[in-house]
Amino acid sequence: MLTVLVVNGPNLARLGSREPDVYGTATLADLEVACAQTASELGLATDFRQTDDEAELIGWVHEAADRRLPMVLNPAAFTHYSYALRDALAMRTAPLVEVHISNPAAREVFRHTSVVAGVADGTIAGFGLASYQLALRAIAGLLAG
Ligand code: DQA
Repeated sequence: MLTVLVVNGPNLARLGSREPDVYGTATLADLEVACAQTASELGLATDFRQTDDEAELIGWVHEAADRRLPMVLNPAAFTHYSYALRDALAMRTAPLVEVHISNPAAREVFRHTSVVAGVADGTIAGFGLASYQLALRAIAGLLAG
């Protein structure tokens, strides 16, 4: 069964207590379960990870490139300024979907720029945790060609 790397950036381990009016009350563990369930419906497995560390995140992107693993990525705040993350993602060898729980385009101006979007197949934002489920469906579609 093909594995999709589902990677979450900084502060997303705080889901459930982090600004619940913006991000909801479900936890990262809830999100992990929902992703595994959707993936299995699609005949996929998930490798679900979170880090607050840019270097660790970039290491995982390199790993995905080396292993040809598709990725669902919520880069969190790195979305808006990490050229190092963008450069790492530009080396990808499999489908990549950028996801956001909230809709950054409807929030503060600094969130309107994604330095990652240009190297992703597409971006899904604003649907809460369902953004990840939609992203997994998009990955399955890209893999099916
Ligand atoms: C986020 C949106 C980002 O602007 C923010 O920095 C996050 C979460 C989202 O999922 O809505 O940490 O990526």
